[in-house]
Amino acid sequence: MQRLLAWVDARFPLTATWKAHLSEYYAPKNFNFWYYFGSLALLVLVIQILTGIFLTMHYKPDAASAFASVEYIMRDVPYGWLIRYAHSTGASAFFIVVYLHMFRALLYGSHRKPRELIWILGMLIYLTLMAEAFFGYLLPWGQMSYWGAQVIVNLFAAIPVVGEDLAIWIRGDYVVSDATLNRFFAFHVIALPLVLLGLVAAHIIALHEVGSNNPDGVEIKKKKDEHGRPLDGIPFHPYYTVKDILGVVVFLIVFSAIVFFAPEMGGYFLEHNNFIPADPLKTPEHIAPVWYFTPYYAILRAVPPMFGSQFPGVLAMFAAVLIFFLLPWLDRSPVKSIRYRGPKYKVALALFVIAFIGLGILGILPATPLYTWIARVLSVIYFAFFLLMPWYTKHDRHKPEPERVTAL
Ligand code: HEM
Repeated sequence: MQRLLAWVDARFPLTATWKAHLSEYYAPKNFNFWYYFGSLALLVLVIQILTGIFLTMHYKPDAASAFASVEYIMRDVPYGWLIRYAHSTGASAFFIVVYLHMFRALLYGSHRKPRELIWILGMLIYLTLMAEAFFGYLLPWGQMSYWGAQVIVNLFAAIPVVGEDLAIWIRGDYVVSDATLNRFFAFHVIALPLVLLGLVAAHIIALHEVGSNNPDGVEIKKKKDEHGRPLDGIPFHPYYTVKDILGVVVFLIVFSAIVFFAPEMGGYFLEHNNFIPADPLKTPEHIAPVWYFTPYYAILRAVPPMFGSQFPGVLAMFAAVLIFFLLPWLDRSPVKSIRYRGPKYKVALALFVIAFIGLGILGILPATPLYTWIARVLSVIYFAFFLLMPWYTKHDRHKPEPERVTAL
């Protein structure tokens, strides 16, 4: 084995890579609960790719047979139901994990200098993930697949001048049709997964270049021992591989419970209307996107049309996602972690979480006048969190950041 390893090492940096990224990658010793979600996002990515490969073996990207092919997978293909439910549950799990992963950055200032690029790559992953979920949702060709795609593609039609042509270009037709299904399939199974894998690799390479942040927001590379190892760092392997395995086990218990006992999750993970085949002649009474898009959908509906055009709402919706990119530069606090920040940031973050969840709930409900007004108030809070950030982070009370990470 030693000789084989030496043979490989002379031709490929296997041991060097293992050391650089695992056994001699020094991570802060005070990682907590919030640090499980990066490795869990990796796990869900693997689950989605593996189950996706097996689904593709029996799925038919053809408007005439797509719905039936999914039913065939569910009823006749051995363990097809398991593969399909794992994939549909995996989609929601991906967003739960990624939202918690992003929230960790807001808690500990992980997006701040020198980790801006990790954050930007993360945001690109998030955008790709949203596109991946949107394309995938058309594939079962149910009523919600069809009308959801119709609504979202029509949003592009609201863009002045080029909108109509753009919408036709995306659909490949004047309405969502077989051509749309085929191209969405191409994007969902190959184009976007490739982009996603490349971005995730870049995300982790960037992370390992600067090193991980931690719940104290202290840069551990500033204090090193005589061997050049950070005093507050421990080797990722075995310490954090073991910790992450615990996270994986707990995650898989919850994941399996959902897959086996509640795969539809009361209509939130798989919507009731999507068990009806797509009918271009019959619009469902109430069209709502899957839960992970609903905060943005609520913002879209909260903005009133101008001159009969939905464009302002569309703009607000895109702005709501894209504004996250600016976060590293909007935050002017001298400290990174919430542990040493003052009350202003804590209140702002709490209000933002309430607004995000509130908008998420409103996006599922029908838009009554009262709900629309609540959504407007929450949208203002949402944007204020970002736009006022330079002010309230600069003029907040801060506790001094410690020199070293604190005890666990
Ligand atoms: C497929 C999706 C993703 C995967 C597989 C992934 C993977 C990872 C991993 C393994 C880590 C190191 C472990 C950890 O800190 O939890 C990490 C760190 C990080 N990720 Fe992600 N990530 C994903 C999406 C995102 C998104 C959407 C964002 C934000 C927009 C993001 C922002 C960050 C930041 C800022 C760090 C550094 C955290 C720190 O050092 O405190 N990631 N990511």
